[in-house]
Amino acid sequence: MSIKNAAEKLICQQAMTKEDFIELLGYFGNSDIMALLKEEALKLRRKYYGNKVFTRGLIEFTNYCKNNCYYCGIRAGNQNARRYRLAPEEILECCQEGHHLGFRTFVLQGGEDPFYTDEKIAAIIREIKYHYPDCAVTLSIGEKPRESYRLFREAGADRYLLRHETADEAHYRQLHPDSMSLSTRRQCLWDLKDLGYQVGAGMMVGSPGQSDQTLAEDLLLLQELEPQMVGIGPFIPHHDTRFAKEPAGSVELTLYLLSVVRILLPAVLLPSTTALGTLDPLGREKGLAAGANVVMPNLSPLRNRKQYELYDNKICTGEEAAECRGCLEQRVRNAGFELVSERGDAPFLPKKLNPMYKENR
Ligand code: 5AD
Ligand code: FES
Repeated sequence: MSIKNAAEKLICQQAMTKEDFIELLGYFGNSDIMALLKEEALKLRRKYYGNKVFTRGLIEFTNYCKNNCYYCGIRAGNQNARRYRLAPEEILECCQEGHHLGFRTFVLQGGEDPFYTDEKIAAIIREIKYHYPDCAVTLSIGEKPRESYRLFREAGADRYLLRHETADEAHYRQLHPDSMSLSTRRQCLWDLKDLGYQVGAGMMVGSPGQSDQTLAEDLLLLQELEPQMVGIGPFIPHHDTRFAKEPAGSVELTLYLLSVVRILLPAVLLPSTTALGTLDPLGREKGLAAGANVVMPNLSPLRNRKQYELYDNKICTGEEAAECRGCLEQRVRNAGFELVSERGDAPFLPKKLNPMYKENR
């Protein structure tokens, strides 16, 4: 039996160990292996999605948050954050405009805001599903008890984004106060999966304290969870946090990880993130060229855009929804892809359960 290096193992879809992932991360900077992985990522992306790029209308409906994640600009302890909430009618207006613009997924994202009780959230979901039955609803509202997730699911929510942020216990402690825990985070992700959501996990790249060891843990979590979506963006410091003076994450490493994740989970829905576009004017185009297949332009009302400031210099805070959509459509085209007006569900079962998978390779 030939001994394969970690990049070959990944490409051959063999189960990866932590050591394999650490070896793989060590190839960052090796232009031959990086080119090989990028090419494989693009091949898989094309195989499952052709030329298509899916788009999601992001509605940032509250920047109140009870949590205090150390990296985040809207954490509870930031007295300088100007807080806002959208009323249900305002959220519906965003959806109306979004539907008109061609969005068929709405992402309701917010801080963990106790004002929005489970019942209020469920009522908003029902309302959106009633008016736009052809659209998917994605929630991104943090950690909740399983019963809340169940209620939202029964109200019609289709997907849930909950980045794990880091899968390494010690690193998690560096980024979060004691009131939060990685085990709760993991439990939430498995609950969501169990309840039939399409689930999104993910991490920041270059967050303070991150190493190849912690990134290997992230990749192991993704391999085990097999989420349908993975959100990966560079860490960007926010001036009102303890990490204000820390360097931002690397765009290049983010792109490398996008390719790695595309190969690890071939049919994954992988956004080219706003954070990537914030650090590099062509970041989102580069993300698509590395294996991403989703973009998430902003549908939030212009008057509140700047207030949803997770990190400094966030782009798209001065553009109307239609401008953002148009801009991204053009960017996607420039990158050689086509922005489509579809729900854009994950097309296949997770790879290990999918009998099609082996035959196709
Ligand atoms: N830099 C980059 N991404 C951040 N997020 C929060 N704060 C920052 C930051 N300073 C990300 C987290 C969260 C998502 C909504 O935004 O990963 O899950
Ligand atoms: Fe928002 Fe370009 S995507 S302005």
